[in-house]
Amino acid sequence: MSERKKRILLVIGGGIAAYKCLELIRRARERGYAVRAVMTKAAAEFVTPLSVGALTGDRVFQDLFSLDDEREIGHIQLSREADMIVVAPATADLMAKMAGGHADDLATAVLLATDKPVLVAPAMNPYMWRHPATQRNAATLLADGVALIGPNVGEMAERNEAGPGRMAEPHEILAAIEARLAPAPTGLLAPPPLITPPAAGLPLAGRHVIVTSGPTHEPIDPVRYIANRSSGKQGHAIAAAAAALGARVTLVSGPTGQPDPRGVDVIRIEAARDMLAAVKAALPADCAIFAAAVADWRVASASDEKIKKDGKSSAPRLELIENPDILKTIAHEGPGRRPSLVIGFAAETENVLTHAQRKRKSKGCDWIVANDVSPETGIMGGDRNTVHLVTADGVEDWPEMDKGAVAEALMARAAAHLRTMTADV
Ligand code: CTP
Repeated sequence: MSERKKRILLVIGGGIAAYKCLELIRRARERGYAVRAVMTKAAAEFVTPLSVGALTGDRVFQDLFSLDDEREIGHIQLSREADMIVVAPATADLMAKMAGGHADDLATAVLLATDKPVLVAPAMNPYMWRHPATQRNAATLLADGVALIGPNVGEMAERNEAGPGRMAEPHEILAAIEARLAPAPTGLLAPPPLITPPAAGLPLAGRHVIVTSGPTHEPIDPVRYIANRSSGKQGHAIAAAAAALGARVTLVSGPTGQPDPRGVDVIRIEAARDMLAAVKAALPADCAIFAAAVADWRVASASDEKIKKDGKSSAPRLELIENPDILKTIAHEGPGRRPSLVIGFAAETENVLTHAQRKRKSKGCDWIVANDVSPETGIMGGDRNTVHLVTADGVEDWPEMDKGAVAEALMARAAAHLRTMTADV
């Protein structure tokens, strides 16, 4: 039925998790994929090229400067003939080299020369994964259109070490490969477009980006209000990331303890209706990101005076009415007013992806950044976030990152998307 086997080029990095690659190769071949392996020098310290070659049924490629290799099959051909490149385990060092565009050995040269989808399975110590340098590199790779799977949370090879850093299991990696290589009927995990760097200047130079952030405070009377636990960390980080990429940024924020991001125009509001008015006043914009946790309801008629007990026997009854939906309103603005890229957030405590996909349609936005805000995740108010990017093409699962790295990856993706939209016109 199918004319030829799909080809996976497996780049094996030097980590203890390299042994899991043997299982990955075996399973991939069972599923009908042809697998070729490139090993870094360090990888050969953990698993022998002999074992890898026995399982791939092919020679194993190791050396950029091997005359034989280059004559028979050069690094360009190696990367071009593959349908997909999988990097597993991806060490912190290998990720740094990829993010920096290095090409000083066969593995990195192949990765730089490819025009095929790349899937990276990080594996490292939790401290290394959480280090800002690795988080920056992960964000850069995501922004470059590379897919990441894992790392999973769990026990490390080192004793008494636990946290995010375990390589995803072979069956999980295989599922991610299949989702990308098979024509996915659900449209899930369609490979992200390859992103080309901007010709000149910063990627968002000349763009106007509006960001909402923080909670809203809905007054009950002059001293009391209804609020929620949003810290504004994610929204403020997005505004900072957009500014760092050269955008003119208007940040419309509810009350938060966050410092104003540098170079950002901050408009402070309290209630949802003021937030909507401020966002409308800031239009037009190229991109709008709605990270605020807007209160869904407000008190129907807030009292102008402090509500007193005055010896009354019963507590006052508050009648609530629905607030305007700011994201939905802006997503339905007419031509010239609607930003080209409208991004919402979906804060869910259950069935995260189902709710998020439904929300993308019902709100009329282009992308939804979905996250699980159940109390046990620690996301609300915390510094880290695990998000899924829901677009018309499908769902991308991003690894756990700090909120700054999520913001950088999201804005870099937005910049690339805006660029392709402009190029299309
Ligand atoms: N949002 C908004 N205005 C509102 C409510 C939500 O702009 N009145 C935006 C949020 O900023 C977020 C998205 O809509 O980008 C989804 O918010 P969320 O609280 O997850 O969804 P709700 O629409 O409030 O739906 P529900 O609470 O039923 O999940």
